[in-house]
Amino acid sequence: MSKSISKKIISWYCKYQRNLPWRNYKNLKDRQYKVLVSEFMLQQTQVNTVIPFFNAFYKKYKNIQSLSKTSNTRILKSWQGLGFYRRAKNLHATSKIICQKHKGIIPSNYKGLITLPGVGDYTAKAILAIAYDKPFLGIDGNIKRLVSRIFLLNSSKNFLNKLKTKVESLIINKNNSELMQGLMEFGALICKPNNPLCTKCPISNECQTYKKGKLNIKKKFKKINNKNYFVIVSKKKNKYLMTYKHELGPLKEFINFPIFVKKYSIKNSIKKFKFNNLKYIKKIKIPISNQNCNLFLYSASTTNKKLIKDYMYVNKNQLEKKFQSSFVKKIMEAIK
Ligand code: ADE
Repeated sequence: MSKSISKKIISWYCKYQRNLPWRNYKNLKDRQYKVLVSEFMLQQTQVNTVIPFFNAFYKKYKNIQSLSKTSNTRILKSWQGLGFYRRAKNLHATSKIICQKHKGIIPSNYKGLITLPGVGDYTAKAILAIAYDKPFLGIDGNIKRLVSRIFLLNSSKNFLNKLKTKVESLIINKNNSELMQGLMEFGALICKPNNPLCTKCPISNECQTYKKGKLNIKKKFKKINNKNYFVIVSKKKNKYLMTYKHELGPLKEFINFPIFVKKYSIKNSIKKFKFNNLKYIKKIKIPISNQNCNLFLYSASTTNKKLIKDYMYVNKNQLEKKFQSSFVKKIMEAIK
């Protein structure tokens, strides 16, 4: 039964796949490179968000060699807006290893891939399947949902083992690239989390959940954490006090205003920076990834000429040349 499902998924995919930029390639090398970059970008980010970033990134870095030769800062700048910046650093490190140790060829075996920075079990299998047509299937959220529904697997004990076995039973020897992409695409467009299009589904006859009338749709809400941050806005002539040593965890690579997690750090800053005063301005909210950030802005001024290590006064023009997070822009807007 599994093989007949796989064949139907491939036929469906050949007819209905979206035209995504990493699915168009000039030659096999270009395909392998595009799959590598897209799989890094697609970790934790949805297809529609990735498309413009992928296009701009590919315009700048057309192959693994040009990617490996650029600087970390440039890569991070191209990643700006996608979030989860560790992926960019890992992709850069991976490109260097591929050029230095693998003669510029992305490994085509699991062992070679899994040791690369940022490549976990899913990404290694996705690259093997999509770029090299090898008999592997990575299990992403779409495939997990689709396969659990087809085979009526519920989240009981042993769920992951059962899921793995069922996914492996779908592997075929030919067209595995289309199969892996087809399964993900089918999960994204037909077997959707909340409104599965069962009437349009070519495998509903084989879907055990559908046959039992059990397509039980649970709306999942993303857990959003609220987090408070305390920010110092200290302006001197046209310059702002800035640092890379702020405490905004997820955006550490960006220059930013001095940002602290603890309120008492704001009070301590009076001594540290020799501020004359510290005045509460306002609170602003900025959502990022799975955090809702409440920023409490404080203005401060000083006549002290000496600067503390890791802190600098930067003007707006200089800031634009630096790698700044959207936080800086939003804080600037709030204090205009
Ligand atoms: N999610 C992860 N990899 C993907 C791909 N290659 N195509 C569509 N969605 C994906």
